[in-house]
Amino acid sequence: MATKDSVLNLLLSADGEISGSDIAKALNISRNAVWKAIHALKDDGWEIAAATNRGYRLVCEGLCETTVRQYLKTEHFGTVITVLKSVDSTNNYLKMHPELPDGTVVAARGQTGGRGRRGRNFSSPMDKGIYFSLCYRPKLSGEEFDPGTVTTAAAIAVCHAIERLTPLKAGIKWVNDIFVCGKKCCGILTEGIFDLETAQVDRVIIGIGVNVGRMLFPKEIADIATSLQNETDGEISRPRLLAEISNELEPLLQNPNKAALIKEAGRRSVILGKKVLVKRADGDFEATALKLDECGHLLVQKGDEILTLSSGEVSIKNL
Ligand code: BTN
Repeated sequence: MATKDSVLNLLLSADGEISGSDIAKALNISRNAVWKAIHALKDDGWEIAAATNRGYRLVCEGLCETTVRQYLKTEHFGTVITVLKSVDSTNNYLKMHPELPDGTVVAARGQTGGRGRRGRNFSSPMDKGIYFSLCYRPKLSGEEFDPGTVTTAAAIAVCHAIERLTPLKAGIKWVNDIFVCGKKCCGILTEGIFDLETAQVDRVIIGIGVNVGRMLFPKEIADIATSLQNETDGEISRPRLLAEISNELEPLLQNPNKAALIKEAGRRSVILGKKVLVKRADGDFEATALKLDECGHLLVQKGDEILTLSSGEVSIKNL
């Protein structure tokens, strides 16, 4: 076992701080080797506090395959888990690796070119959030498969996982943003890869980015963006959150119940009954969000007209 893993095991089993000399004695290594191992662990994303005269204490788990696996209760999701230190975008990574099987999870501790919907970027600072993509190969035929259901299921899975790990209440801003305390903490980017020969969806890449650690947002978005730890005390384990989202999502996609998903998305909606700004290629307009129909489309009232939106984006007015 590598020295850093032995040091990690001691930190994991310690009740509070453990001094450098105790670690050195227990492993029969030098204090300098302990120091190097602590630095290597920090470099892997483990948060370790060092207090003079008291020693080292594990503050928060790092994001790696082992830590994710210890919380995973899925059958298929996570059969392959790859955790990268940094990548442009985990969605791009999966696109470029068609050989990866159904249920593959690719996560990164940071992204240099994280992508959001409508060509926007998704800021993904190192060790501040979870940024991951899941490869889902639908077993349904092209006609039965509904990409909207996948995004709705992912949004609901994220809400369940946040509520399991924190005291926060999570809501959905149609169709792919998760809100806590009135601000966005998570975005979902679902992309389909079509097989042109069979005209079927070959793979769906479900990309999820959650702001987790304490973060300072630029003032242009400070009113609309947040992170879980900005809104609640206590450490939130990033590997556990990633695993819980996968645990929640797998059953929702294995037996999709579209009507139930849309009902829950409606119940969790942060826009229904509110004035919204609808952003469309042919121009923006104000409307009132009314309800989600049985297809998951958003019905809005614009003056006397009721419009059905199947895509596009809405923002809550004045936000
Ligand atoms: C949005 O807010 O419009 C969607 C953001 C989706 C971000 C996630 S992070 C993991 C995956 N990789 C990406 O490049 N994007 C998604």
